[in-house]
Amino acid sequence: MPNFEEKAQIIQLPKFLDERGNLSVLESGKHVPFEIRRTYWIYDVPGGCLRGSHAFRTEKEFIVALSGSFDVVVHDGTEEKRHSLSRSYYGLYLPPMHWRTLDNFSTNSLALVVSSADFSEEDYIRDFDEFIREVRK
Ligand code: TYD
Repeated sequence: MPNFEEKAQIIQLPKFLDERGNLSVLESGKHVPFEIRRTYWIYDVPGGCLRGSHAFRTEKEFIVALSGSFDVVVHDGTEEKRHSLSRSYYGLYLPPMHWRTLDNFSTNSLALVVSSADFSEEDYIRDFDEFIREVRK
């Protein structure tokens, strides 16, 4: 499996261009550096709204803009970086202990999130100061 573990980063996915329409794919261990356990998606986001604003203690995620565009603002405990997603053949890999906020959603955008874990509220850190305390430990 590729060793992406520590750093949030954009990963390019394969794209099969075809005059009948294009196709892209993501596979555990090849493009996404974890075993996929769960998939969810965020859609119908009203203009100006934010999603996320939390970190996970152990969960890893991979986020793709399947349609439209949005930004993912990622804080690693030291610095913040804004990643703009607008193509369905790019994904953002997020390791554990990265604070992330999704914003700047375009009309009809669709955010696909694949996750390494079952949903667990205990894995969330929803307070930024608590995140900073835990990440700097
Ligand atoms: P949450 O991850 O808190 O989204 P956001 O940070 O964007 O507000 O999810 C919102 C709610 O959806 C959460 O309180 C419970 C529910 N939920 C599930 O039941 N299963 C899931 O896999 C996810 C991602 C959310």
